[in-house]
Amino acid sequence: MLGDAQSFTLQEAPIMAVERTLSIIKPDATKRNLTGKINAKFEDAGLRIVAQKRIQLTMAQAGQFYIVHKDRPFYGELCEFMASKPVVVQVLEGEGAILKNREVMGATNPADAAPGTIRAEFAESVGENSVHGSDAPETAAEEIAYFFSGLELVG
Ligand code: CDP
Ligand code: MG
Repeated sequence: MLGDAQSFTLQEAPIMAVERTLSIIKPDATKRNLTGKINAKFEDAGLRIVAQKRIQLTMAQAGQFYIVHKDRPFYGELCEFMASKPVVVQVLEGEGAILKNREVMGATNPADAAPGTIRAEFAESVGENSVHGSDAPETAAEEIAYFFSGLELVG
């Protein structure tokens, strides 16, 4: 039946929204000259870098960015690490970009990260794990606005 055929087609080819997500290449990776290799993985996965800058965070800026983790035992060490060397903050755009970025990154702990992911290949430890990625649409919007103005998102 035509109706069945139509619903089958829709289920097989869901329309994914174009999203933007915040990515950070962390100090352990910028220090080891891995920015290009990491961004090749994002671009090969179909993610487009629509904004990008290399900056060094202050402790206060790192602390505010990771404020959601303020009661976790690793918070102080995390903030010190993030402020220790330059980072590259960037906005990735693409269909389903938030989840896709997380897939390309791999699990937080590199020991659990799938082969071929950034963290499996490059991360040094659960703390010094090379990349950050937003985890949901709300946090992506907040985190992008933390680092970029609308004028800096150039597509
Ligand atoms: O970065 P991701 O979203 O995968 O992990 P998270 O649970 O939001 O934690 C944020 C960051 O805190 C991690 O990427 C690690 O750098 C750090 N962390 C840590 O040092 N030790 C842990 N047990 C968990 C996270
Ligand atoms: Mg997180």
